[in-house]
Amino acid sequence: MKHITFIFTVAALICSCGRNIVSDIIPEPSEIHMAGGYFHLPDTLETGCPDSSFLSLDKAFKALVPDTEFRLNVSDKGGLTIRKQDGIAEGGYRMKVSRRGILIEAADYGGAVSATATLGQMVSDGRIPCCTIQDSPRFGWRGFMLDVSRHFFSKEEVMDLLETMASYKFNRFHWHLTDDQGWRIEIRKYPELTDNGAWRDPLAHNHDIICARIAESMEDPSYVLDHSKVVIRDGKEVYGGFYSQEDIREIVAYAGALGIEVVPEIDMPGHSLKVVESYPELSCGGVARWGKDFSVPLCPGNDGLLQFAKDVYSEIFSLFPFGYVHIGADEVEQTHWKTCPKCQARIKSEGLADENGLQAWFVKEMQAFFAANGKKLIGWDEIVSGGAPSEATVMWWRGWRPDTRTTAVENGHELIVSSSEFLYLGGEQDRNSLMKVYNWDPVADGLAGLEDKVLGIQAHLWAETVPTFANACNRIFPRLFAVSELAWSDPAQKDARHFNRRVLLHLRKLEEKGMNYRIPDLSGFCDVNVFADSVRIDVEKPFEDMTVRYTADGTIPRSSSPIYDSPLTISSNTTLHFRPYTSNGMPGDIFRAEYRKTSYMEPCTETGTDTLKPGLKADWYEFRGEACDSITHVPFNGSYVTEGVYIPEEVKGNIGLVFTGYINIPEDGIYSFYTYSDDGSYIRINGEMIVDSDGPHSRMERSGQAALKKGLHAFEARYFDHSGGILEAGFIMPDGRRRLFEAGDFLHTEGQSKTSPEI
Ligand code: ACM
Ligand code: ZN
Repeated sequence: MKHITFIFTVAALICSCGRNIVSDIIPEPSEIHMAGGYFHLPDTLETGCPDSSFLSLDKAFKALVPDTEFRLNVSDKGGLTIRKQDGIAEGGYRMKVSRRGILIEAADYGGAVSATATLGQMVSDGRIPCCTIQDSPRFGWRGFMLDVSRHFFSKEEVMDLLETMASYKFNRFHWHLTDDQGWRIEIRKYPELTDNGAWRDPLAHNHDIICARIAESMEDPSYVLDHSKVVIRDGKEVYGGFYSQEDIREIVAYAGALGIEVVPEIDMPGHSLKVVESYPELSCGGVARWGKDFSVPLCPGNDGLLQFAKDVYSEIFSLFPFGYVHIGADEVEQTHWKTCPKCQARIKSEGLADENGLQAWFVKEMQAFFAANGKKLIGWDEIVSGGAPSEATVMWWRGWRPDTRTTAVENGHELIVSSSEFLYLGGEQDRNSLMKVYNWDPVADGLAGLEDKVLGIQAHLWAETVPTFANACNRIFPRLFAVSELAWSDPAQKDARHFNRRVLLHLRKLEEKGMNYRIPDLSGFCDVNVFADSVRIDVEKPFEDMTVRYTADGTIPRSSSPIYDSPLTISSNTTLHFRPYTSNGMPGDIFRAEYRKTSYMEPCTETGTDTLKPGLKADWYEFRGEACDSITHVPFNGSYVTEGVYIPEEVKGNIGLVFTGYINIPEDGIYSFYTYSDDGSYIRINGEMIVDSDGPHSRMERSGQAALKKGLHAFEARYFDHSGGILEAGFIMPDGRRRLFEAGDFLHTEGQSKTSPEI
C-alpha cells in the first residue's frame, strides 16, 4: 500500500508543471514549493517546542503522524522544531522541511495542529519531501456536525471522527446531543433524561426498522444495527447509549488537543420528545407525540421550562469550555402553543405578536442567560423569524430559504453557512455529488461582499438511517474532502482534475485505516446500452485491485456473486448488475446496465421544406406537473433558439422545456448520451427514448446509447422543474468524459415548433 502512495506522490510532482501547487494534500495549501530530497523520519523524533502551551501537540502528532514517535520537550532544538510566532495568519502556519530537519511556525495552537495535519499527509515510505509551505485558512469556522441522537456513536467512534476532522483541518465539532429519538448526555439534575431517554426498543423504532430492511434487502452490513449499543434492561434488549460527564470531558479535552472546539447542541424548544416523555409537565399537553409536522414542543408559557433549560445549560457550560453553545430552536410545532393557555398567557403578558414572537422570546431569554454566563448562543436559521437578538449566531441550513440567510446578515447576526443543499452529507451520493459540493462557493452564492459576516461553513450528518460508524463514513466521504477545501483553500486555486486525483489517493488512505467511504463510480457503460451483434463489456474500476461482483439474472450482487475479473462478451438482451467492494468487504453502489440488441437507425430523409438553421428550437411552458410527456398540455410562455440543452437565465419559475430539431451524426456508430437534471428530463432520438430521467427527483445523471447512421436524426429533449433546478445534457465520450451539447450538434427548421413570443 505504501508503494502505491509513493507512486501517487511522485506523479503529483510530475503532473503539476506550471503550477506552484504540487501537493497531494487536502485541503490544498495556499503555497507550497518543493525543494528536492527528503527528510527521513526516525522512529523517534526529538521535537523542540519552546512554547509550553503547544505541548498537547503530542496527542495531535500521535493521531496525525502515527509513523513516528515525537518526543516533545520545552526547547528550541530538535529534528522538528515548533515555534509560536506572531505575524502569521490566525489558524495558519509556515513549514520548512529540509534534509536535516523540520521547522514549523504558527501564531496559535490551531495553526500548529494544521501544520501537523499537513505533515501527516506528506509522510510516505517513512520520509517527507523537502519543501516550504505557507498556509492559512479561508474561514475561521470549519465545522462538522454529528447527530448522535437518532443513532448513537461511541466515545471511541467520536474520537476517530475527531482525528479525521483534524487531518482535514476542521476545527469545530458540533455535537447534536439531543433530539426526539434519544438524549445522549448525562445531566445530573435530571437523571431521567438518560435513564429513560437514551434507550429504545429497536424492534419498534421506525428508524431501526428501516435500517434493518435495507441491511437485508441490499446485503449491506453498514445498515445492521450496531450490537455493541444494544443492552439488556429489565429483561429486554434496548438500543442506545449516552455519554457520562466523564466521557464528555475526555472527548472535549481530546478535541482540544486536536485543535477542535466542541459546540454542544441541546435542541429546544422543539425536537424534545425525550424531555416530554420524562418530564411531561414541561410540555403544553403533557403527552409525548407527533404534531402536524414536528414533535410536540416544550411549553415556553411554563416558568418551569425556563428553570429546566437554565439548569441543563448550566451543566453544559461547565463541561464545554468553548464560547459558543447551540440551542437548536429549529422546526418547532407551534400549533400546540396556539391552544395552550400558558403559552397564550405568556404571549399576552409579554406583549408578543404571536407564536413566532413566543419562540423569539424564549430564544431571547436564553440568549440573555447564555451571555450572563459568558457564552454565545447559536441557533438554526428559524431563530431569525420573530426577531432573535443580534448577538445570537445564526446557522443557516434551509437551502430553500435563502431569505433567512440574508435577513440574518442584515439584522447583524454572525452567520455560519450550513446549506442543506450542499453541506448536508447524509443524502444519497452519486457520480455528481462530490463535484456538486466542490464546484459550489458558499460566499459567491448569495453572500458576495458580506464575507465579514460569515464565520465559516459547516457540514452535517443527520443519523436517522445511519446505524453504524461505517455507514456514517460511507455518507460523508469523499464529500467531506470537498467541504474541507471549501472551508480552507483559496477558491481561486480550484482545479477539479487535481482535486479528483487527490480524492482517490485519500480514499485509499481511509481504506488503509479501515474506514469506509463511498466507492467512486464504476464506468465503461451507460444505464441503457445498445449493440448490433455482440458487445464486449469492459468495466472500469476506480482502483485496479478493487473487487467487483456481478449478476446477470436481475438480482442485486451479493458477497457470494461471481467476481468480475475480465471483460464479458454478450450477444443477446441482458441486464447486468455490478457492485464494487472495498478491501474491508464493504459494498458500494449497485450499478444496473441494460444491454439491448438493436439495428442502426437510418437518418431522416425528410427534414421539411424550410431551410435548416443552426441550433435547437426550445419551447417554454408554464409547467407544474411531474412527467415530461405532460409538458405540452399547459400554457405556453414562448420559444427561443438554443445551441444546447440547458436552462437560459431568462427562463425561471415553473419550467417545462421542449427542445426539438435534428442531431447531426458525423459517422455511423454507437453514441452515448446523458442528462443531469433536477427534476425530470429525457432525450428521444427518432422518437425512441434514449435517456430516461423522467419524474420528480433531485440532481441525477442518467445515460443511454443509440446506434445511429451518419446524417440528421430527429432529436427531442424535455425537462421540467418548479423552482430553478438544473439541466445539463450531452455526449459521453469513449474516454468517459462528459461533453455538453454545443453549437454544431444541431439543426432545426423554423416551422418545427410553436410560433408565439420570442424569449
Ligand atoms: C435541521 O436540519 N432541522 C436543522
Ligand atoms: Zn404551552
